[in-house]
Amino acid sequence: MQARTLRKKFIEFFKEKGHKEIPQTSLIPENDPTVLFTTAGMQPLGPYFLGEKHPEGKRLMNIQRCLRTGDIDDVGDICHLTFFEMLGSWSLGDYFKTQAIRWSFEFLTDKKWLGLDPKRLYATVFKEDKNIPQDKESIKIWKEQFKKAGINAEVYPGSKPIKGNENYRIFPLKKDNWWGLTTGGPCGPSTEMFYDLNPKKGPLQKTFLKEIDEGRLVEIWNDVFMEFNKLPNGVLQKLAQKNVDTGMGLERTIASLQEKRSVFETELFSNVIKKIEKLSKRKYKEEENQRPMRIIADHIRASVFLIMDNVIPSNTEQGYILRRLIRRIVRYGRKLGIEKKLTSELARVVISDYKDLYPDLEKKKEKIISELNKEEERFKQTLEKGLKEFEKILERLKGKKLSGEDAFYLYETYGFPIELTKEIAKERNISVNLKGFLTAKKRHQELSRKGAEKKFAGGLAGKSRKTIKLHTATHLLHQALREILGNHIQQKGSNITPERLRFDFSHPEKMTDEQIKKVEEIVNQKIKENLPVRMKIMSLKAAEKSGALALFKEKYKDKVKVYFIGNFSKEVCGGPHVKKTGELKSFKIIKEESVGAGVRRIKAVVED
Ligand code: ALA
Repeated sequence: MQARTLRKKFIEFFKEKGHKEIPQTSLIPENDPTVLFTTAGMQPLGPYFLGEKHPEGKRLMNIQRCLRTGDIDDVGDICHLTFFEMLGSWSLGDYFKTQAIRWSFEFLTDKKWLGLDPKRLYATVFKEDKNIPQDKESIKIWKEQFKKAGINAEVYPGSKPIKGNENYRIFPLKKDNWWGLTTGGPCGPSTEMFYDLNPKKGPLQKTFLKEIDEGRLVEIWNDVFMEFNKLPNGVLQKLAQKNVDTGMGLERTIASLQEKRSVFETELFSNVIKKIEKLSKRKYKEEENQRPMRIIADHIRASVFLIMDNVIPSNTEQGYILRRLIRRIVRYGRKLGIEKKLTSELARVVISDYKDLYPDLEKKKEKIISELNKEEERFKQTLEKGLKEFEKILERLKGKKLSGEDAFYLYETYGFPIELTKEIAKERNISVNLKGFLTAKKRHQELSRKGAEKKFAGGLAGKSRKTIKLHTATHLLHQALREILGNHIQQKGSNITPERLRFDFSHPEKMTDEQIKKVEEIVNQKIKENLPVRMKIMSLKAAEKSGALALFKEKYKDKVKVYFIGNFSKEVCGGPHVKKTGELKSFKIIKEESVGAGVRRIKAVVED
């Protein structure tokens, strides 16, 4: 079965079960500053798990392009990818565990659908936690399913070697069987389905996790039972409705169906790999070439789709990830002896492979090619010199650790992303002083910021005063919204120009005129009270505990700044702010509008 057919069958199956297909979204989440990329099909559906009505109903499905950078170091083995496509289906407060597991089993094993051999399937379930019991319900449902296929499934009782008992089919695990975004929100226990790529070996022999590590078992589908909401302070709140979120990795499943040893041996990668073989005059089947070829094949797909979704290489956020991916392609290309133009040549293959499904690839072909060429050129110009410099540094090196200063020098002068430096160093058994690198980087940033401030002190000083006021007004607005609309309000984005503030937040419906008026009144009242604005540096934990508002994302360091406006507002923020709210004089909302499902936008001004 080809990927094309798998996509079609998945859509057909879930449509037959009453699901509506919803469009997929960009790799760059809209109005969600807490995450860099769309990492799962459920991500844009957040508000609907919490109770908001979806216009398409309670049963949804789609195929969503995703990007995960957490696995970047594992790319090169048989199944890890940065970019992948996820086949997803959802129940929003409709059916729950029984129906979800039955349908999963039906789709995987029924001849009409995928027709996988049930004897090669295994399921994991949530083991238990101090607050959440073992998922006995899922165990019972799995037993019934296996029984229908003539298999007497038993629950594996412990973590010792399985020692060939072929009835052990259901494995309670903890860490991997709880799923939610790292930033919090809807989550719950999950049940994952694994496929045995090597049944000739007979029943499983080692621990389940070992069989995964060694590539015998591959996870193909995850059913998450989302009945909790993880609050910013880490507390789990039971949701009013029970949801199901399933995600099947297209690449892994197609490899399983084709009995291929790895995802890179399916038609989804074969043309790119062939092109790499041609450019390098080396063969994929030679063991030593596989890792670099897989890394290149994965990264070029990710890069092409990122540029399609309007990312361009840079030194921050999404652009930095793209830069890292492209630079890694060039470097691994060098390892394979490829000196000539590489990324755009490979991009042409990806575009031609995917353009039927993603017509934007064809439309943006020129841009994709030119961005890749530019970045490749930029990197190549300094790569040779940088590598030579690196060698010199290594020769001078005493001991086994590269200093932060040296790592920063390579970053600043030769454009070596720190991860690349780490990678090259690791090949020589040398570690890198990361802390030192960050300190050097920060010092440099501060110096250049000071320079920039000096430069603009004349013309922009007046305007920047205005943005500081708007910044404080944003905090007042945030808290006022929570008082009037409720504590479900979460910041989804913020942008300030000298003219106005813009604040995006989660809220399911349009605000009434009355609510807008009340919010304005509260903010103006707080301005009138001329409240002092104070800043305290706290540990992230203490800030979280104190109930300060924050987008508790990983980006925060250990110590954070918390801004207090009187006793009214408490928010983690980098500042700066005015000293007293009276400086704002008066506050007015000029617009309230929708910017997508469950997200509202307010534009407001202060007068002086
Ligand atoms: N959202 C779930 C996952 O990504 C299905 O595994």
